[in-house]
Amino acid sequence: MQQEFKIVNIESVSLEQLKAATDLLIGRDYYTANELKKLLSDKDSKAASFALLNGNGDFMGFRISLAYPHYQEFVDAKKYSPDLWECDLKNVAYFKSLFLLEEVRGQGWGTKLSKTSMGVFKKLGYKKIFAHSWKESPSKSFYYLKNLGFQVIKEHPNFWSDIDYECTRCKTPPCDCTALEMLGPING
Ligand SMILES: CC(C)(COP(=O)(O)OP(=O)(O)OC[C@H]1O[C@@H](n2cnc3c(N)ncnc32)[C@H](O)[C@@H]1OP(=O)(O)O)[C@@H](O)C(=O)NCCC(=O)NCCS
Repeated sequence: MQQEFKIVNIESVSLEQLKAATDLLIGRDYYTANELKKLLSDKDSKAASFALLNGNGDFMGFRISLAYPHYQEFVDAKKYSPDLWECDLKNVAYFKSLFLLEEVRGQGWGTKLSKTSMGVFKKLGYKKIFAHSWKESPSKSFYYLKNLGFQVIKEHPNFWSDIDYECTRCKTPPCDCTALEMLGPING
């Protein structure tokens, strides 16, 4: 029987569930519980962040998105390039993290979660979104962004090396993965 899935606002899942999911999918201690709480402490960012649940209510993935200027607290200003965006900073939101359990990847849910988030930002008057796509992502996260009209602005080597966490690819710190800064339109 086909599984039923639903997209719900991130508030529907507990902080403990979210912490367990980020530990599992991004790497242990990438986010502390306190950081997750801070990320979602902003009203518009919380409204634009979503979780994917299966028919039993099990947590299957999440899309955390941040509004301007809230994201500036979490992203080092040296690691993005508004001078290349051709858009007023205040009209650009940020796709912070998107991760799905392996069993639901490649079925369009990452795209759907992202479009749901974009719908919220559109209503709030945003014109564009930027993201740091994980270049070494086993599921090539670049492609879902490209399909949404995103373009690579700049490559940032060792993007996550200053975070003391166990990257699922690099295992022991420091992480030497590369981020692709990508910018896309809010359509639809
Ligand atoms: C990356 C991730 C969030 C994407 O979500 P998803 O639901 O698996 O992706 P979707 O099914 O919505 O879309 C993937 C698209 O990329 C396309 N794609 C994937 N690999 C491709 C390739 N090698 N060449 C061309 N297109 C490719 C797919 O065909 C699909 O496009 P389509 O819908 O037009 O067929 C998810 O796979 C995931 O959690 N991966 C591991 C964690 C990760 O990398 N997170 C992102 C960190 S930046």
